[in-house]
Amino acid sequence: MSGVVNIDQYCVIGNPIAHSKSPAIHARFAAQTAQHMTYQRLLAPLDGFVESVTTFRDAGGMGANVTVPFKLEAYALATHLTARAQAAGAVNTLKFEGEQILGDNTDGIGLVADIVRNAGVALRDKRILLMGAGGAARGVLLPILAERPRELVIANRTLSKAEQLVELARNHCAIGSDDPVLVSAAEWTQLDGQFDIIINATSASLSDDVPPVSASILSASTLAYDMMYGATPTAFLRFAGTAGAQLRDGLGMLVEQAAEAFYLWRGVRPETTAVLAELRQSLEAQ
Ligand code: ATR
Repeated sequence: MSGVVNIDQYCVIGNPIAHSKSPAIHARFAAQTAQHMTYQRLLAPLDGFVESVTTFRDAGGMGANVTVPFKLEAYALATHLTARAQAAGAVNTLKFEGEQILGDNTDGIGLVADIVRNAGVALRDKRILLMGAGGAARGVLLPILAERPRELVIANRTLSKAEQLVELARNHCAIGSDDPVLVSAAEWTQLDGQFDIIINATSASLSDDVPPVSASILSASTLAYDMMYGATPTAFLRFAGTAGAQLRDGLGMLVEQAAEAFYLWRGVRPETTAVLAELRQSLEAQ
């Protein structure tokens, strides 16, 4: 006996990465489910993602989460992809299996879990507005459609990008369904009628900006969801709050996407409620 104990190693790779809450989340999951593992932050040079992953794997790493700006490179690096990663066109979770690298994307399922389970709002038969058509929007598109909303409108500053997502959605919906979801693209000013759920997948919140939508598309029964989060409400949530909408930021999505990655790696499903509550508390204490 050498006395050396091998601990399974995982990490989150990004640039920047110092802000990442993933190590705290996975440490809580590991403690809760008695998994013997470590999970660290890994700062990869902007031009050194593949090298960083390879070094980590060669040193015994078993899996990694991938964040900005490497999700497309992770997609390209994977030797095989889950269906949801293929649909998202991006990878946020890698699992190393010998010479193989499995690429998954747990963002969309994380968003849906947070809305349905944590907020208690079903997507089925609802009228939903998805704002934005970049990587974040694409990543959640098919998991939203899988919940069978009545209608999905995709609005974006650059209309052609929203139209591309509509095309992707239609191709997906056309397969195996005789009751397809009504999917369309729109300009901000073309939006009319009220929505049951509005999801902000733009990065406008980063510049404390709100897409120029009319307050008339919101009501007191609307769930306004911002995929971003912070110590204080985003500009979109402040705007939606004035219309009396139910508000939710992306902290729950962060925890739920982590739970899905943890399940992929360890085969154990962690409990998320207490972890989300703790994270919220520490965010508000900042
Ligand atoms: P991400 O990976 O976060 O989705 P992205 O792929 O660069 O990043 O996409 C950013 C999204 O936010 C896009 O939909 C972008 O609109 P455009 O396609 O027209 O560029 C949207 N966006 C960014 N800043 C915005 C703003 N101030 N107002 C409205 N939409 C904004």
